[in-house]
Amino acid sequence: MKHILEILSERREGARLGGGQKRIDAQHNRGKLTARERIDLLLDHNSFEEFDMFVQHRCVDFGMDKDEKIPGDGVVTGWGTINGRIVYVFAKDFTVFGGSLSEAHAAKITKIQDMALQNRAPIIGLFDAGGARIQEGVAALGGYGEVFQRNVIASGVIPQISLIMGPCAGGDVYSPAMTDFIFMVKETSYMFVTGPDVVKTVTNETVTAEELGGASVHTTKSSIADKGYDNDLEALLQMRRLIDFLPSSNTDEVPEWPTFDQDDRYDMSLNTLIPDNPNKPYDMKELIVKVVDEGDFFEIQEAHAKNIIVGFGRFDGRTVGIVANQPLVLAGVLDSDASRKAARFVRFCDAFNIPIVTFVDVPGFLPGTAQEYGGLIKHGAKLLFAFGEATVPKITVITRKAFGGAYVVMAAKHLRGDVNYAWPTAQIAVMGAKGAVEIIFRADIGDKEKIAERTKEYETRFLSPFVAAERGYIDEVFQPFGTRKRVARALAMLRHKELENPWKKHDNIPL
Ligand code: HXC
Repeated sequence: MKHILEILSERREGARLGGGQKRIDAQHNRGKLTARERIDLLLDHNSFEEFDMFVQHRCVDFGMDKDEKIPGDGVVTGWGTINGRIVYVFAKDFTVFGGSLSEAHAAKITKIQDMALQNRAPIIGLFDAGGARIQEGVAALGGYGEVFQRNVIASGVIPQISLIMGPCAGGDVYSPAMTDFIFMVKETSYMFVTGPDVVKTVTNETVTAEELGGASVHTTKSSIADKGYDNDLEALLQMRRLIDFLPSSNTDEVPEWPTFDQDDRYDMSLNTLIPDNPNKPYDMKELIVKVVDEGDFFEIQEAHAKNIIVGFGRFDGRTVGIVANQPLVLAGVLDSDASRKAARFVRFCDAFNIPIVTFVDVPGFLPGTAQEYGGLIKHGAKLLFAFGEATVPKITVITRKAFGGAYVVMAAKHLRGDVNYAWPTAQIAVMGAKGAVEIIFRADIGDKEKIAERTKEYETRFLSPFVAAERGYIDEVFQPFGTRKRVARALAMLRHKELENPWKKHDNIPL
């Protein structure tokens, strides 16, 4: 008996060493943790239950049958808890064949994907790998296909999160691309379909891995990644924070955490947030942080399309998704990037029953050939579509401008907004006074006095919340200091909202 126990210990110890101490040291020297170290930091202490530690590849080509087979085959898989809630996890082990994906390696991942879906819990993938196991050829490609198919089926059922912590190239990029969120570690991770060498050969461009697919590129230009973190430790701790915001599945309620923040907390400083000059910017994040529980706001896509803010916060300990125009950037205008960014976020929230709170200060859609040629109509329609199809509780607060089509798009009453509020500073109109007067009173354009008079008249009549409130498009106009209380109470009132769209196979959102 003792002998068998010793064998087990030895085999376990061997498997835990992955590709060996030399490769582990190399990993550390690059500022990266190993797969198991990462899992230990991600999950609650001692909660990890590993599966398939002894799995080996079955490849016989290119001398692979003669080479030492490494137990685990380049990926560590299993489940554990984050603050007591179950999550499934797989972590690529770069010390074993560069974390590359073989048929056996893929089967380990699909086993975990199947369990996560069947048991309705989030799945987190930690990526650090060199793509398909080159020696395995088509068997590796098939393995990727199996992983991808499961990503698709699980989409909208359980949260799927990818954290890129090293190379992520070739076949490895498409699974993360189909998950809900992608996060990266700055400097040590990169994602691309084809690497710098192939790029040089095909397009003759000279580019580094960081320039082609580092966090600096994907969190800003491409918007592939939702945020970059300084190192492994910070990234893993932030994943724990994110999971605390998310329901375990689309049939679960949002998690409810104890909060010390009073629901009816007033914030008098909000009464002076809006500058006297309506063309002056202010920081919408200040409003968000001042109204959510304990100022805890988890922002998504912070560095991309900064003219709109999206992220998770809580009221009364329960998660909400927040969408807000940011007057500090491009006056908070909606452009293609901002529309796509917010649409994706709104759809995530709706898929997972997370109520949406929208703060509006939007002067309209961004004019120009660049936007129109870039498909602004279709991208803007994405956000319109996303808000319109969402059946979760929707609460909207217009703080200042809500002009034109952008008024409707930003979760207006007409898109089944449940509770639509406005501050007294709100201006709900087809457009700003100058533009409006120049069109309606074109004949008077030369007469400065007349134009000034007309402008004043337009401002008084239309640049307020009251025309909309008179029609019931705005349910109530209230002072800014009470925003937290109003939103929290509306959320409580809507807690058991029931609304269903008619049955369909799926919709046809303008992609
Ligand atoms: C097998 C691999 C491997 C791979 C790396 N290794 N990638 N083994 N298949 N794809 C092994 C190396 O042989 C090496 O083994 C160890 O992992 C570490 O690799 P290094 O090259 O020493 O590390 P580094 O210098 O950090 O470079 C990392 C890397 C590079 C940039 C990822 O290894 C690389 O370019 N790999 C190949 C990437 C690639 O072309 N993959 C296939 C993509 S095609 P030893 O024993 O020396 O430690 C694809 C299509 C799928 O994925 C499509 C599906 C739809």
